[in-house]
Amino acid sequence: MKPVLPHAQLDWDDQGRPYSRVFDDVYFSDKSGLDETRYVFIEQNRLAERFAALPEGGRLVIGETGFGTGLNFLCAWQVFEQHAAADALLHFVSVEKYPLSPADLQRALALWPELKVFADQLLEQYVAIHQGFQRLTLDHGRVTLTLLIGDALEQLPQLDARIDAWFLDGFAPAKNPDMWTAELFAELARLAAPGASISTFTSTGWVRRLLNAAGFKMKRTPGIGHKWEILRGEFLGWPHDVPAPAPDKPWFARPAPPSGERRALVIGAGLAGCASAASLAARGWQVTLLERHDDIAREASGNPQGVLYLKLSAHGTTLSQMIVSGFGYTRRQLEHLQRGRDWDDCGVLQLAFNAKEAERQAQLAAAFAPDLLHLLDQSGAQAVAGIGLAHGGLFYPQGGWVHPPALCQWQAGHPQVQLLTHCDALELRKVEGQWQAWNGEQLLACAPVVVLAGAAEIRRFPESAGLPLKRIRGQITRLAQTPQSQALSTVVCAEGYVAPARLGEHTLGASFDFNSDDLTPTTAEHLGNLAMLDEISHDLVERLEIDRLDPESLQGRAAFRCTSPDYLPIVGPLADTQAFAQAYAALGKDARQVPDVECPWLDGLYVNSGHGSRGLITAPLSGELLAAWLDNEPLPLPRSVAEACHPNRFALRRLIRGK
Ligand SMILES: Cc1cc2nc3c(=O)[nH]c(=O)nc-3n(C[C@H](O)[C@H](O)[C@H](O)COP(=O)(O)OP(=O)(O)OC[C@H]3O[C@@H](n4cnc5c(N)ncnc54)[C@H](O)[C@@H]3O)c2cc1C
Ligand SMILES: C[S@@+](CC[C@H](N)C(=O)[O-])C[C@H]1O[C@@H](n2cnc3c(N)ncnc32)[C@H](O)[C@@H]1O
Repeated sequence: MKPVLPHAQLDWDDQGRPYSRVFDDVYFSDKSGLDETRYVFIEQNRLAERFAALPEGGRLVIGETGFGTGLNFLCAWQVFEQHAAADALLHFVSVEKYPLSPADLQRALALWPELKVFADQLLEQYVAIHQGFQRLTLDHGRVTLTLLIGDALEQLPQLDARIDAWFLDGFAPAKNPDMWTAELFAELARLAAPGASISTFTSTGWVRRLLNAAGFKMKRTPGIGHKWEILRGEFLGWPHDVPAPAPDKPWFARPAPPSGERRALVIGAGLAGCASAASLAARGWQVTLLERHDDIAREASGNPQGVLYLKLSAHGTTLSQMIVSGFGYTRRQLEHLQRGRDWDDCGVLQLAFNAKEAERQAQLAAAFAPDLLHLLDQSGAQAVAGIGLAHGGLFYPQGGWVHPPALCQWQAGHPQVQLLTHCDALELRKVEGQWQAWNGEQLLACAPVVVLAGAAEIRRFPESAGLPLKRIRGQITRLAQTPQSQALSTVVCAEGYVAPARLGEHTLGASFDFNSDDLTPTTAEHLGNLAMLDEISHDLVERLEIDRLDPESLQGRAAFRCTSPDYLPIVGPLADTQAFAQAYAALGKDARQVPDVECPWLDGLYVNSGHGSRGLITAPLSGELLAAWLDNEPLPLPRSVAEACHPNRFALRRLIRGK
């Protein structure tokens, strides 16, 4: 297990500038950090010119080693704002081992009043920045920041991106040689777009030689302030004398990005469909969102309260990485919604209701930072929850509850999303490069790109019928708040969960039924939910005056979760099942083979489904993942996680297992 990395440990000088205790170095130059950043990074990479030259809908991707206070990022954003066309996009990817705490970031950025409009937006979204990939969507999607939280040498190899300009800013080489190694520079080269530019404040000879050896052509150039010389350069190509990195496996390679009109049809308006629509619209796509009911969020995404609960593993599994990244992304989206009505970050308490759970929790507490989760003993847990409890547990202070329809509404409310209700897509047809959605003889809509986001219903289309999705019925119970139950101040979970009241009602959930196809709520399941409530807190049962309720009159709703066999969502481009099996049949004999055959993609057909019991955590980030596949952008997740969520994983496993 890896040690938990702390926030940056800072000292502040008499002029209020941050200084790193760990590296014994300054975050920016003593004279004027702003002038230095502009000269070393913005000018040497010719950003003003390049932003101005971006074509309609064009995009520039900047990569950085060492995010620190975000000063370089904010300067780049400012120049982008000044020079780029209104529909151009900026992607900034930066790796950071010791992120500043939000309070320190605020203090550091207060030094630059002229960057305040940008700094304020960054600070608003600088929440739940935990280990791994953390995506921030800024300025309505015009600017995307992907922070890779962790050691550069661990994070960069997981990045899938094409970087147009590199900023190297990882403290002085003498003080932090780990950020200036041949191994790291090979990663920068792997990620560099042809002709990518690069610059750094140092002119150290061995740094220049190592960068040259990695395929960059570096030049010394006059410095600024007390820096006599600095380095700038460009990427010439992977060096001939070093073996090139293996290309992506064809079944996980990026399909050619669709050319022509940027119009998409998203089928299904739950969390997955609304998130997909929002992520595409933010990138300038025109989206038609089809929903068979009279409004969005009428099925699984229609519960009054869902819980932002992280079921993590202490061993950094793929699923766990997805959950930490997805939680952060959802949590930042919620900042746009109204607290108390649409969501609340009241925290989530997972009770240690037996010895096995207590052991699991202790492992998690050792593996993650305390601002994500920490242990509470019984009295601490009671104090946080405001009710009597029999156990302590694990507390997630940034978790809470969400009214999922409010999140869907916000996402689908983008002006470039057109919602068409009462549209049940029964059949897809591809005609002259467009996918058409039909209901019998009625053409509902068409577009060059279709995203299937109808949970398990996507199996009705032959193109996606082979995806192994299972429906699991679940029922929640609604309980009226009482004067005594108002004391509940955090979500509490054991086998089930109960949330503080929203608009006078608590949500109690949720049952699991693997066999039933009937969505009429049953009294038996309400009673099951009440039994779970009793396990959570007998005190709360009394406060809610449960014994006065008539079981037959209990209210609630049931819906289907849609789950994949590995509990990861299914997000990405779809291939033709039969052609896939033929193209890669050789894997049936030897799973290590990589036939040099292009994947038979179903051009323009994508899927976002399989969000199981945690769509609030996985669906919004999956919208970003989908858009990144479609628009050939930096992926918002480690490559291995994106592949673990790829629709082709199942066909691949079938081939390898010979089934
Ligand atoms: C009882 C219960 C409790 C839950 N609790 C939590 C929780 O606490 N936290 C959490 O994170 N998650 C929870 N979940 C899971 C979460 O609700 C789901 O993961 C999420 O809602 C899935 O979103 P979705 O968009 O994939 O599916 P859905 O919300 O089911 O949306 C699919 C939409 O597609 C539409 N559609 C389907 N096919 C078509 C078609 N052909 N044409 C037109 N429209 C179509 C449907 O009408 C529907 O609106 C819970 C789920 C249930 C059932
Ligand atoms: C000079 S500061 C960066 C300043 C920053 N670009 C800015 O605009 O404020 C260097 C940063 O590199 C980070 N860092 C140092 N070693 C690292 C490593 N091995 N991996 C990732 N980040 C590292 C430090 O924590 C620090 O935030």
